[in-house]
Amino acid sequence: MDKMTLSCIKADIGSVGGHVTPSKGLVDAVRTYLKDHAGKTLKDWDISYIGDDIALLFVHDHGENADKVHKLALDTFNHGADFARKQGLYGAGQDLDAGAFSGNVRGMGPAVAEMEFKPRKGEAFILFTGDKTDAGAYSLPLYLAFADPFHCPGLLLAKTMTEGFSFRIIDVTHTEADRVADLKAPKDLYDIAALLRDDGRYHIESIFNNKSGEIAVRTSACRGRMEKGKLKGKDDPVMLCRVQGDFPSSGEVIGPFRLGHYVSGSGRGSHTTPLMPVKQYSPITFFDGPASVSARAYSVSTAGKLTEYVDLFDHPFWETVRADLARKFIQMREQGFAGPAMLNIQELEYGGVAEKIHALQDKFHTK
Ligand code: F6R
Ligand code: MG
Ligand code: MG
Repeated sequence: MDKMTLSCIKADIGSVGGHVTPSKGLVDAVRTYLKDHAGKTLKDWDISYIGDDIALLFVHDHGENADKVHKLALDTFNHGADFARKQGLYGAGQDLDAGAFSGNVRGMGPAVAEMEFKPRKGEAFILFTGDKTDAGAYSLPLYLAFADPFHCPGLLLAKTMTEGFSFRIIDVTHTEADRVADLKAPKDLYDIAALLRDDGRYHIESIFNNKSGEIAVRTSACRGRMEKGKLKGKDDPVMLCRVQGDFPSSGEVIGPFRLGHYVSGSGRGSHTTPLMPVKQYSPITFFDGPASVSARAYSVSTAGKLTEYVDLFDHPFWETVRADLARKFIQMREQGFAGPAMLNIQELEYGGVAEKIHALQDKFHTK
């Protein structure tokens, strides 16, 4: 294959017992649909899930934003949503109802990350899927893996990476058009950090090797859409990341996730939660959280055939990390609704508090 495209499209189309995990029947329905319909459109595919979201991974040669690829994903999810409705699953079809399909599912509700590149001999990549948070959750680990030699020794040791990486950063609050800035590490390191500190607004959309120009990362960060005065479309992210050679190693990329830094999400999408690296197929639990990320590593042949996956967070090392992060989450939960435990009013996923405070203004008087 001269040019290969990887597409990951992920959606919540219904789950068991709340926003917890899809049913086995639903996952089978999605798999069977793809077996019957992927046909000549795709070179290969795989499916996975995290929390209540099902992720489709497609390998093809139609480029990014291809109508037929997005239509196949949408048809698959619609078929699954019908099954979910029949089974009585919670939130059946919840990510599919943002208006009519116009050839592209980006911004409709599903999370989308796509990258086109000339495949290397020995192409290795990681599919990251996340639940109960947004694409801003990837900013700090990506910054540390691609711009900080404390975490990524390859920046010092590998000739292919000595010129650093470029970050394309998108303003997700700008709803009219894609508003992006291209900044180069290490030259613009502090400018990159200054933007990424605001993880509700500036998200990393992609990363490129400065020397080779090769794409390394594409996340599902995209501009939001306004619905009833609230910014929608920031939810439950995915990310594709090529590793080794021109890029950090798989270990360098997953390393910063051990920090389990605080991100927004979890209970009612409105709280501060550590980002916990979880095993494949983990459900959502305590406090509708914690915000979770999983890492599925693959190799893909130049003909576009995927190997089986490796679960990078399924190793005894990560058990210690998870135990620490459970304690970190409990500590934040000791704050209840106070201070930094709940997001500020503009960031809340639910409008209830804002309406209540608005109505309460009538109770105030000046003495
Ligand atoms: C957060 C999440 C849950 C739900 C909560 C209430 O992303 O999925 O915290 O917000 O379970 O769900 P509803 O409002 O659907 O009853
Ligand atoms: Mg959900
Ligand atoms: Mg979800």
